[in-house]
Amino acid sequence: MRAIDIRNKYLKFFENHGHKVIPSAPLIPENDPSVLFTTAGMQPLVPYLLGEKHPEGTRLTDYQKCVRTVDIDEVGDNRHLTYFEMLGNWSLGDYFKEESIKMSFDFLTKELEIPVEKLSVTVFAGDEDAPRDEESANIWKSVGMPENHIYYFGKDDNWWIAGEEGPCGPDTEMFYDTGKEPCSKDCNPSCGCGKYVEIWNNVFMEYYKDKNGYTKLKQQNVDTGLGLERMNMLLQGKETPYDTEIFAPIMEKLQTLAKHDEISSRRIVAEHLRSSMMIISDGGRPSNVDRGYVLRRLIRRMTRHLNKLEIDLNELSGLIDLNIDNLKEMYPELEKNRETIKQVMIEEKDKFVKTLAHGEKEFEKAIAKIKQEGAKKIDGQVVFRLYDTYGFPPEVTSDLAREQGYEIDMEEFQKLFKEHQEKSRMGSEQKFKGGLADQSPETICYHTATHLLNAALKIVVSKDVHQKGSNITAERMRFDFSCDHKLTEEEKQKTEDLVNQWIKEELPVTVEEMKKEDAIASGAECMFIEKYPDIVTVYTIGNISKELCGGPHVKNTKELGTFKIKKEEASSAGVRRIKAILEK
Ligand code: SER
Repeated sequence: MRAIDIRNKYLKFFENHGHKVIPSAPLIPENDPSVLFTTAGMQPLVPYLLGEKHPEGTRLTDYQKCVRTVDIDEVGDNRHLTYFEMLGNWSLGDYFKEESIKMSFDFLTKELEIPVEKLSVTVFAGDEDAPRDEESANIWKSVGMPENHIYYFGKDDNWWIAGEEGPCGPDTEMFYDTGKEPCSKDCNPSCGCGKYVEIWNNVFMEYYKDKNGYTKLKQQNVDTGLGLERMNMLLQGKETPYDTEIFAPIMEKLQTLAKHDEISSRRIVAEHLRSSMMIISDGGRPSNVDRGYVLRRLIRRMTRHLNKLEIDLNELSGLIDLNIDNLKEMYPELEKNRETIKQVMIEEKDKFVKTLAHGEKEFEKAIAKIKQEGAKKIDGQVVFRLYDTYGFPPEVTSDLAREQGYEIDMEEFQKLFKEHQEKSRMGSEQKFKGGLADQSPETICYHTATHLLNAALKIVVSKDVHQKGSNITAERMRFDFSCDHKLTEEEKQKTEDLVNQWIKEELPVTVEEMKKEDAIASGAECMFIEKYPDIVTVYTIGNISKELCGGPHVKNTKELGTFKIKKEEASSAGVRRIKAILEK
């Protein structure tokens, strides 16, 4: 049996039991910006679980395209997937435990012909919020489940809710015994050793949880979910989903193209390729926020692993074709969107390739440094800088680190990432980065020019001059600084000349990381001390300028061209403003 045959059998079975087959909702939830992707079959059905009437009735079934990214770092092992398909059937205040369990048992044992000895089930053990689910256990016994294949567990295992709030309830989960040796005498479906694999989850959704606790819903619902790739793998007696027809053609192709046989890299490429294609096909596009950023991470990590396998990146187009040809029977939309999928993926790959080499060099430097220090973890600052400057998703940095036996400080990265997002949202990012809205070669030149101007003003005007702000576009720079008088013509000229002299001197621009206190003690200039984290980056230009700064900067002042002050004016009390340009 192939995956698509299991899907068809499932939908037919539930149709024969009075269910209406509804289409999969798109991966990108409609009208719900609160979640990134559809993560479960019940998600698009929440209003109906809460009591709204569904136009198709009270018994529904479907296959649902899902993306879950919590385990994205684990992809490459033998089981984690970011994209998967969930088969489901729902009772919206219609049948409850008895019919649900009977149908599941019949489908597994009669339709899929799984011997009952291979099945085990778990039910809710009960606590202060809801009673022990003897009822489900008794139903299982009545259909023929041996008593010693029925286990009771608490909320951690046998209660289902999406997130912190929403419809929820006790569940009964079905497990497939792979036939592996028990890991201990206490081996059971919840021990996670791999002997028992969860195949289906029936949630008896009759509660609603909010911050005040649990209340009963208007109706008793059933929400079930069966992971298609996993079921397919088990029925075919395969060890991993990559050995089934869903992934085998792409895995084989990757093997013929690769210069080394690194199975986890091939899995990462195959998995991320499929999930990116599905997301793009449903309207997702790469960007730096939310859904778009997840897609960007997937494509960039895939690209990195294609590189690692030493596969020519021009093969990507052919790999996409092969995958679409293989999957289009399951997902006809892939065929319809073939050209868009290719265009989006190839464009994103090209963007990443441009920065990949620089970023890897930067990474090597960071590794050399921590080796020297004898540290075990790459700190979040470095991970963040690779993200911010080179577009490295944390997974890519984490992969690079792991390959050399190091870990990354993900927590610190997440913290910095959140701060960064917050700042962009508040629109204060410009201030933080010295007005650097984009990172084109032009704006980077202007950015370095602000450091030179800052240093020149200190020499020509007064050592008490400090930067108060700046704003940069690709065409010009604006620089605000503390000063109690209008600059004289002579001061302006001298400042301009000094900056141009430094440009001609071809001064190197170097960057290092240090503790904030050390940076300040060394005399580094800094605009908003409280805005900087404990470890800071410091940019040094020759021996004339040293500033705390997020970068990026040119490598050498010779790249700047000719500096010209266009205007000098008042900005606010005690603050003057210079407008200047660089001519090439
Ligand atoms: N909502 C439950 C799950 O995701 C059952 O479908 O496991």
